[in-house]
Amino acid sequence: MTSSDRLVLRRPDDWHVHLRDGAMLKAVLPATARTFARAIVMPNLRPPVTSVDEAVAYRARILAALPEGVSFQPLMTAYLTDAIDPGELDRGFREGVFSAAKLYPANATTNSAAGVSDLYNISAVLECMEAIDMPLLIHGEVTDPDVDVFDREAQFIERHLKPLRERHPRLRIILEHITTEEAVIYIRESYQGGDQRIAATITPHHLHLNRNAMFLGGLRSDFYCLPVVKRECHRRALVQAATSGLPCFFLGTDSAPHPRSGKDSACGCAGIFNAFHALESYATVFEQEGALDRLESFASEYGPHFYGLPLNADTVTLVRRDQPIPSRLLPPQSARVGDDTLPESEWPLLFHAGETLAWCVEINGHSGPN
Ligand code: DOR
Ligand code: ZN
Repeated sequence: MTSSDRLVLRRPDDWHVHLRDGAMLKAVLPATARTFARAIVMPNLRPPVTSVDEAVAYRARILAALPEGVSFQPLMTAYLTDAIDPGELDRGFREGVFSAAKLYPANATTNSAAGVSDLYNISAVLECMEAIDMPLLIHGEVTDPDVDVFDREAQFIERHLKPLRERHPRLRIILEHITTEEAVIYIRESYQGGDQRIAATITPHHLHLNRNAMFLGGLRSDFYCLPVVKRECHRRALVQAATSGLPCFFLGTDSAPHPRSGKDSACGCAGIFNAFHALESYATVFEQEGALDRLESFASEYGPHFYGLPLNADTVTLVRRDQPIPSRLLPPQSARVGDDTLPESEWPLLFHAGETLAWCVEINGHSGPN
């Protein structure tokens, strides 16, 4: 095995993940915690995480669901509503409970009904966040039903993000899971113009898929997520951004598991479950672009820099070895005991199911996610 067949990386973090709660949390958390040292945990539970106490309790449930011996730090976020109290955010941020706050435009996506209906309703909140330098994480899509679903991100940038940044120039913003060339250009030009207060996360699925995937041989809810995957030219723009070496683009998987019944439905849920092989999935794209030497900074350095957090000291190893991806993985033993377990029939399909990835993550000499 040559050195190009083994890649030792500083341990990465996932800057955007849905860990869910209850049985699903127990089932999916080991996948994230195995590879990633920290993760920004989305607050769109039912009901959403809107207070410091709820975030503390959710964090405790995550830590309780961790497999023994695994080190993992959940970084909690607050779910912004029209009525959220700036004082609550301020306290949560100062106490080290909240790492950021998440803006879901009301009804933009899964569990976002309690989100923000008009950005002007949270002006005082945004001013407070600006003052304490608390990052704002944005689901960047307009919800106007007259706007074509494929144009909603680009429209959000024009209608909401640009004016928002004029009103709150010191606010630090991450545009989450970007999907379009327009978003890539906006973030890149901001960065290159000397503005380091905005960045974007990029998911593995938006690097691999274009919108044809959703219609391959029928209607495929397994490839449906929000923002929805776009045309090939947008996928290419995302690949170039991720592999560009620019610090304004970094890893955020947006791994979003749904029970099988939520996908196998006439109205399939939005979300792709990629946590089990996320790093291998990114590595595949970086290798195709001849940019494996840039994977570490994308996965393990630019995120902590943006959040002002230290880099992880430990490492993970990517080994070049064919890895056939099954449809589902059996829940780890820890998720199969007790009442709170996910029936096997409800296990979410894995991203890349049926494909063979050329890399395996090895932790302390062990490969495979279980
Ligand atoms: O595809 C998605 N799934 N996009 C989101 O914004 C939310 C997420 C979820 O929570 O399922
Ligand atoms: Zn998400």
